[in-house]
Amino acid sequence: MSSPDAISPPGKSRTSGATGWEALIPLDWDRLRRLTNEPVPSHLKRWWFSLGGTPAYLFLIQITTGILLTFYYQPTAQSAYESVARITNEISYGWFIRSIHKWSANLMIATLILHMLRTFFTGAYRHPRQLNWVFGVTLLLLTLGFGFTGYALVYEQLSYWGATVAANLTESVPLVGPPLATLIRGGPEITSATVTRLYLLHIGVLPALLIGALGLHLTFVRLHGVTEFEFEGSPGAARRPAFPFPGPVLAVVTGLGGLLAVLAAVSPAPAVDLIGYRLLPGTSRFAFLAIALVLFGGAYWLWKGRVGGLLIFLAAAVLTLAKLVRDLLLHEAANPALWLALTGGLLAFLALALIFHRRFPEEVRPDEPKSYNFFPDHALTELLIGTTLLVLLTLLALIFPAHMGVKANPQVTPDHIKPEWFFFFQFRLLKMTSLHMSVMLTGLILVILFTWPWIDRLLARLAPNRDLSVYIGIVGFLWFLTFTVWEAMVH
Ligand code: HEM
Repeated sequence: MSSPDAISPPGKSRTSGATGWEALIPLDWDRLRRLTNEPVPSHLKRWWFSLGGTPAYLFLIQITTGILLTFYYQPTAQSAYESVARITNEISYGWFIRSIHKWSANLMIATLILHMLRTFFTGAYRHPRQLNWVFGVTLLLLTLGFGFTGYALVYEQLSYWGATVAANLTESVPLVGPPLATLIRGGPEITSATVTRLYLLHIGVLPALLIGALGLHLTFVRLHGVTEFEFEGSPGAARRPAFPFPGPVLAVVTGLGGLLAVLAAVSPAPAVDLIGYRLLPGTSRFAFLAIALVLFGGAYWLWKGRVGGLLIFLAAAVLTLAKLVRDLLLHEAANPALWLALTGGLLAFLALALIFHRRFPEEVRPDEPKSYNFFPDHALTELLIGTTLLVLLTLLALIFPAHMGVKANPQVTPDHIKPEWFFFFQFRLLKMTSLHMSVMLTGLILVILFTWPWIDRLLARLAPNRDLSVYIGIVGFLWFLTFTVWEAMVH
């Protein structure tokens, strides 16, 4: 016989004690609150340590802007280029959505690399989190897949020939390479079928795989909890980060950013040609240098956890707003009042969040609690990061809008083939070795990446107290950086 509680009298629900919306959605709210509100360690207050949220947030932006782009994009060789041109030049705010999609993709890959560096150099992949590192590497490859297929969809000269090089590389993978290349191309040559297949990969297969892998990744983060670290002044925590981040690496990254800005400013080619820069007609390259340095300074400060960095972004947002208003008044017919209200709301939120958030500590203070609640504390941190990213993306889309190259011409090989920056490493490897050798080396790097947690364990057994993994990581990352910057500098 069932218990009297199991069956509710007619007209009465089991949550009849609850009121308002809690009765409307009859879940066990207390249990849900406990499940979702795990205490988060204090060090996640720093962006560096909670960087994983950033690619997740950017992925949401990709889905939203991507859906809008599919309304107008046509995946055939005959019409792909023209449809992108229409989005860029004719559809209301098409240029803006496309630019945000492009910048968000780039930032997603950049922040993924940073998240990976953070987990690597803090040893967060070690037992029991090895599987989550493997899911992470899978996520990185899937995201690169998005980058590649998306670039190819524009069907301009560079993306067409980039796809050709990628197809040749795939073809020379032993055993699986030739059938895989034929499958993706839809035959022996790149044709209209290739564009359609890459489109399906980009909007169907890859998103499904990425959402699945992300689900696993986040479930494991939740099951294990994030690694707890011991910082100066925080007694009793489990581990010390393997490497004193963020200081040295951020200094290198900022320095490199500044160096690139200086090179762009003093290079004989006008900055306009170099990076498609157009802020205002006739702006000198020194203005570009100034903006780049201010933004790098801001980003550095922000990473260091200083409020000054946010203020720089706020100032940049005000400038962006001024430019936005000017553009709207001069060129666009759509509703400027709505845009003004939205941007104003965004800025107000950023300012308010900043005031109420209060905590951007440089050091862990002795009185700082070891952990805090996910809601509302960490959710607010994530929201603040998300809003800052929105401002940054708007700024980038306005100052460096996505432009179009020449339409693909299968008969004419361009003088200089260039992939997107995240494949520069790969491309340099290809130029410096042979097709087969670069494929073998890439395979080897992938195997090392996937099995790294176990290699690390072996190294720790062979040479305890030597921190070999840290040095291997530094050499590996510098190799990646050198090849990337090198390829960026040459034709
Ligand atoms: C779309 C891609 C990814 C997303 C959205 C993501 C998201 C996250 C989030 C939210 C966390 C919690 C802690 C934090 O915010 O840092 C995390 C932790 C972690 N992630 Fe990722 N991740 C991604 C890719 C990667 C990659 C490429 C790797 C490495 C190859 C990786 C390895 C890890 C590891 C080892 C942890 C545990 C960190 C700890 O315990 O301190 N993830 N990830």
